[in-house]
Amino acid sequence: MSNVSQTPAPHEPLVELTDVVKRYHGRAILDGVSARLGRGEITALIGPSGGGKSTLLRSINGLNTIDGGEIRVGPHRFRPGDAASADTLRAVRRMVGMVFQDFQLFPHLTALGNVAEAPQQVAGKSASEARARARELLGRVGLGERCDHYPSQLSGGQKQRVAIARALAMDPQVLLCDEITSALDPELKHEVLDVLEELRNEGLTLIMVTHEIGFARRAADRVVVLAEGKIVEEGPPEQVIDNPQTERTQRFLKNVLG
Ligand SMILES: Nc1ncnc2c1ncn2[C@@H]1O[C@H](COP(=O)(O)OP(=O)(O)O)[C@@H](O)[C@H]1O
Ligand SMILES: [Mg+2]
Repeated sequence: MSNVSQTPAPHEPLVELTDVVKRYHGRAILDGVSARLGRGEITALIGPSGGGKSTLLRSINGLNTIDGGEIRVGPHRFRPGDAASADTLRAVRRMVGMVFQDFQLFPHLTALGNVAEAPQQVAGKSASEARARARELLGRVGLGERCDHYPSQLSGGQKQRVAIARALAMDPQVLLCDEITSALDPELKHEVLDVLEELRNEGLTLIMVTHEIGFARRAADRVVVLAEGKIVEEGPPEQVIDNPQTERTQRFLKNVLG
């Protein structure tokens, strides 16, 4: 962290995919995906269901192996065959946090307990240090008054913000978000999306699968359209969303926007 020479300039890609192939049962779910995801940017990953978006996020996090190409996350690289060493995987997972549609909070722990858990169990922090930091992070996502609430006592939007705080507790450089507002009532989505935008403004890199086209247009720095395992279009939102060039993107947006 203190080694300045290892810190790339802003907007230099922090995550880079080169010709990534992932197959399930012989079928290419990711079919030669290349992308450069900028440090400190929000990349919105959009596209039809089954197109490979979740598989792409899971590949970046090392949750699934790949069958072709290369993924680089900061200084760490993984390719097929040279199964990433346990050390590399651990390092990548420390750099990359992930938040899911269904929150995946521990029901038997309070908001504070959920956020303080991994820093103690995985990062070896003391309970008092982990809890102090958890309190700070819950404040940062607007839940300073909810530290002692259990998940069952929180709204969907609050639970999702606890999940975000929990991911932040491991000090990730990249946050992967897989449709994290899809299960929320419309009026609760904005409280989660606002937090993501603030985090980006504080320097976090976000890669989010989302169906919130309005949010992507307003807040994303870059939009990537993935369909049938291939990137069919990418660029700034005003280009991809307001003036899509490919028939596939036009058809997808028509279906989503109605
Ligand atoms: N673990 C798996 N085993 C077999 N097939 C899978 C697995 N994970 C995903 N798939 C298949 O890969 C395709 C893409 O899935 P996914 O990445 O979840 O798409 P998206 O998130 O864009 O909806 C789907 O056809 C899905 O059935
Ligand atoms: Mg998915």
